Amino acid sequence: MSSKSGLAQRLAIVAGFENPSASLEQYRTPPELAAHLVHTADLQGDVEDRTVVDLGCGTGMLALGAALRGPTRVVGVDVDPAPLATATENKRKVASASAVEWLRADATRAPLCPDGPTTVVMNPPFGAQTGNEHADRAFLETAADIADVSYSIHNEDSDEFVEAFTADNGGEVTHAFRASFDLPNQFDHHTDTSRTIDAEVFRTEWR
Ligand SMILES: C[S@@+](CC[C@H](N)C(=O)[O-])C[C@H]1O[C@@H](n2cnc3c(N)ncnc32)[C@H](O)[C@@H]1O
Repeated sequence: MSSKSGLAQRLAIVAGFENPSASLEQYRTPPELAAHLVHTADLQGDVEDRTVVDLGCGTGMLALGAALRGPTRVVGVDVDPAPLATATENKRKVASASAVEWLRADATRAPLCPDGPTTVVMNPPFGAQTGNEHADRAFLETAADIADVSYSIHNEDSDEFVEAFTADNGGEVTHAFRASFDLPNQFDHHTDTSRTIDAEVFRTEWR
């Protein structure tokens, strides 16, 4: 297994969104956070020899991180075809040995039914900017439907919501960690040159 920092270096080459949509909350997860999430998942035995599905994959950051850690298969799902074209190019640049497929679909409607052990990784829209609080709920529902374990990034103070949702859906949050990262200003409604996102990452087992 390569180191976490080695993984972050490989992922630094992953290009972000060319014309990001604010309503779809399109921003690239920083390589360091993606590497931290994937490395943690790998240490837990949640990547190798499993199907990994990235819900709301954008330009492929989490999917490609997983693809570098020996899964059986990776599927990245996004509703917008433009980032999927970039994801295809990113796959070529990252040069992972694992098979990666990109699927244009609504991730909130359980768009696939993978065989065998399946891990979901995702950084879904939070809904905080649009007043659509917990837009991530529908993504968690899909994770509960198709995976036996998921790693999901949520905005800060989501622990109560995620734990309650998980318990109501027969799952259990087994690990959680905080992350904060800077994003460059890319939308008109952002007034600063960058903003800091405070986030929480959860590992959830689904039954
Ligand atoms: C915060 S970005 C994360 C992108 C990428 N996973 C990453 O980590 O860099 C959220 C992504 O969810 C996608 N998205 C939003 N709503 C979606 C939906 N209903 N179905 C599939 N993808 C969706 C957006 O297009 C965007 O690519």
